Amino acid sequence: MTEDAIDEKAMEKAGQILKEGGLVAFPTETVYGLGGDALNPESSRKIYAAKGRPSDNPLIVHVCRLEDIPPIVQEMPEAAMKLAKAFWPGPLTMIFRKNDRVPYATTGGLDTVAIRFPSNRIAQALIAAEGGYIAAPSANKSGRPSPTIALYCKEDLDGKVDMIIDGGEVGIGLESTIIDLTEKEPMILRPGYITQKMLSDVLGEVAVDHTILSADSKERPKAPGMKYRHYAPAGDLTIVEGAPGRVAEYINRELAKAREAGEKTGVICTDETKSLYHADCVKSAGSRRDEDEIARELFRILREFDDEKCTVMYSESFRDQEIGDGSGNTEGQGGFGMAIMNRLMKAAGQKIVQV
Ligand code: TXA
Ligand code: MG
Repeated sequence: MTEDAIDEKAMEKAGQILKEGGLVAFPTETVYGLGGDALNPESSRKIYAAKGRPSDNPLIVHVCRLEDIPPIVQEMPEAAMKLAKAFWPGPLTMIFRKNDRVPYATTGGLDTVAIRFPSNRIAQALIAAEGGYIAAPSANKSGRPSPTIALYCKEDLDGKVDMIIDGGEVGIGLESTIIDLTEKEPMILRPGYITQKMLSDVLGEVAVDHTILSADSKERPKAPGMKYRHYAPAGDLTIVEGAPGRVAEYINRELAKAREAGEKTGVICTDETKSLYHADCVKSAGSRRDEDEIARELFRILREFDDEKCTVMYSESFRDQEIGDGSGNTEGQGGFGMAIMNRLMKAAGQKIVQV
């Protein structure tokens, strides 16, 4: 179905499944979610089991009306009201102090709860049909890239989910930005489409959990889920950073060695550089000028490497300052490129080479 032609009958059925403790995969504007009743601990346990997800990794509670938030939190900070006004419904998740109505099974044992009001109208209709609160992680098997089409939900969760709602390809392709509002200083725990700049335009100073883009994985990120190896293809992925010509030269040299050793090789590049590479699977994420397209393509490419059984892969870097007009201006730092790079670094197990 589409957002403009919502199948009311199917929605009613899906709402019923959720109310009875079942699971439904559904589209949002970011990625597909695996939904269960957020206020039912049994549903949350089922979600963890279906994904094979560690139970200390909390779920996001999805709502479809602002007035449904006060009943499940201790307080609604002024900053949250401002952000809600600016970015909701949309790809932003805020962390609040929870009250007793939210089970610890949903928050991974934490006293805080992550809440998001998605803009996708199919998601909104489903939340309404459920009665207000859907806990939903991304609808992938734990560790795999988040699904951007319904087919990927089926690949990862077939038999473990009671219904999959196909709403076509998602618009954004990376998970929501997460901001913590429970400490003195608002802090971004996961970068996404709503950038640091956009948030600080509304709130003033906004910090970023510095472990997000650090190659040193010993430090513990503040969002429990960010510590897990994620998105990683089965093969070995390395990011290469430097001047475009040098990057291509380095990658081609390494790939030639890998091919000689019998590996199946892959490259993630851009439309501008695609013709420079020699590999079994050369995949452009789109134009370097179009961050939105790169974000939308990334998870699909990572899945395709698995389908095509690539064993050694390299990727160009997508740091903010390297995206955009190429003039080297760094104004874009803290932009959407931060989210792309954060996911890519996790997929590469933080392996990054400077040339
Ligand atoms: O765009 C999205 O946010 C998607 C769609 C389906 O809405 N959902 C999603 O959920 O990405 P998931 O479970 O894959 O990622 C949730 C992240 C995890 O890194 C988790 O640790 C963090 O949110 N999180 C959830 N509750 C938290 C809390 N109370 N404090 C800190 N981090 C939290
Ligand atoms: Mg996820």
